[in-house]
Amino acid sequence: MTASLLSQLSARVGQVFADCELDPKFGKVVLSQRRELGQFQCNGALAAAKSAKRNPREIAELVVAALEKTGLFQELSLAGPGFINMKLADDFLLDHVNAISKDETFGIRGECTPEKVILDFGGPNVAKAMHVGHLRATIIGESLRRLHEFLGNEAISDVHFGDWGLPMGLLIKEIELQQPELPYFDTANEGPFPSESPVTVDELQELYPAASARSKEDPEFLEAARQATFELQNGRAGYRALWQHMLNVSIAETKIDFDLLGAHFTEWKGEADTNDHIPGMLKRFADEGLSELSDGAVVVRVAEDADKKEIPPLILQKSDGAVMYGTTDLATIEQRQIAHDPDKILYVVDARQSLHFEQVFRAARKGSSLDADAVLEHVGFGTVNGKDGKPLKTRDGGVVRLRALIEDAIGEARKVVEEAGMADRFDAGELSDIATKVGIAAIKFADLSNQRMSNYVFDLERFTKFEGKTGPYQMYAAVRIKSMLRKAADQNITSGDLVITEEAERNLMLALSQLSEAVLSAAEKSAPNILCDHVYALTQEFNAFYHDCQVLGETDEKVRASRLRLCEITLRQIEAVLHLLGIAVPERM
Ligand code: ARG
Repeated sequence: MTASLLSQLSARVGQVFADCELDPKFGKVVLSQRRELGQFQCNGALAAAKSAKRNPREIAELVVAALEKTGLFQELSLAGPGFINMKLADDFLLDHVNAISKDETFGIRGECTPEKVILDFGGPNVAKAMHVGHLRATIIGESLRRLHEFLGNEAISDVHFGDWGLPMGLLIKEIELQQPELPYFDTANEGPFPSESPVTVDELQELYPAASARSKEDPEFLEAARQATFELQNGRAGYRALWQHMLNVSIAETKIDFDLLGAHFTEWKGEADTNDHIPGMLKRFADEGLSELSDGAVVVRVAEDADKKEIPPLILQKSDGAVMYGTTDLATIEQRQIAHDPDKILYVVDARQSLHFEQVFRAARKGSSLDADAVLEHVGFGTVNGKDGKPLKTRDGGVVRLRALIEDAIGEARKVVEEAGMADRFDAGELSDIATKVGIAAIKFADLSNQRMSNYVFDLERFTKFEGKTGPYQMYAAVRIKSMLRKAADQNITSGDLVITEEAERNLMLALSQLSEAVLSAAEKSAPNILCDHVYALTQEFNAFYHDCQVLGETDEKVRASRLRLCEITLRQIEAVLHLLGIAVPERM
């Protein structure tokens, strides 16, 4: 029993092709584009005829005659030069839906060979509040993490804090300017240092832009910051202690955002964790002749003959000894190889960093930094834009903070649920739980339902609507089924074996049977939008079913029990897919 209805059908139809002395690969079955003609179609007779140099219509007729004997189909018909339209026998469909619904992952996990996947996402930076750019990294990354977990993979998620470059030196020097009396700046002081941070996260967020601006006007300050970065990286005690404080307060702050977005990390590592690994790595690259000196800097040449555009060398170390973003990323790959020996590392990072990852991956391959068969992939994404079509900015042109964005979404959701009259039905606590879930569902679904690489316009009013292809609507569909199941329980109505009496039941079952394809191709392409499409199709079919078929009011007990079971299965599947999208469903609303 395979979880995928299409691959099962393809195998059976392929066998029929083989029996007709044709290549079984031509038996591929796909969903029909025109439902009125059939649920599925097989277009392989044309290609089979071509390769056998025979008439396509004749071949198709031969295949149809053989298919009729299998008992798999209720109806078979021919269209055009040799397209075969098919309608599945109900027994087959019923068996399939029964089988997948008995399994916790709808039979999908059983189809997969477990892999070890590292997901690098989130990517916040010390002292900088997470901004709109981190929204997609977090939402998409978390969805992929859940997807891999669902498939039975070992999913390791690492936040990869940006905590080691020049910004650290800039911050240290800025703090020194403002509070020179602190103990961290005295070279002779080896500690111990105070356990309280001298700066709050709000102060840090002010300090960084100040320092950055100062470094642009004052070359001496910039030079001092460079020096401080270098000394920090080389272990100067006071700087390390101050840096640790900055890191701690920044982590505490980002945890609030990640909790709001339901993102989970198994590792809280950062660029700084590569520090001890780097000297050995630099030496090895040099010894093996993989790196070279260029204008005083140590670089790895990564250009290849087949390149269509120029791929510049990866800089490992600048002439002043400082290491770069690429150096820490390369070292991180080596450390991940040692610690985890992964099958795959996925980087969920803004598409604009694609050159960086191309350089790093090539350098890693050159240096055999990880197993040759392990996959390195940059899972890029487009920008979140304002209504003007340009990357989202605050009214005065500033960076939009992630927290503000989330709070806006929850605020908008609260308006919508209040307008729907929920304030009268629920107490304050439950109402705010609902508003939070609706707000988060709105931004997540809106984000994930786009093709990853496209940009999209941030429009809360559209995202929070309780109709159409929105998060709140999918969530509401699930809540309605929950409430119906509660009613059934109150009336002691129990579910029973599935039967098919109406077209709408059949269509809903067909929709349920598509999960496996959706999940597997979402994982393969790192494309949560495929899951959004699936859950949307499913809620649409459910609505049609609910419209056409009585459930609790049905008088035939067997039919009623079957429909109730269909509701249970549908709810379980909607909730499972929403969970993969990182969306939680309230008990009622
Ligand atoms: N901190 C980086 C940024 O804000 C993202 C880090 C992504 N991960 C990585 N391994 N480079 O752009």
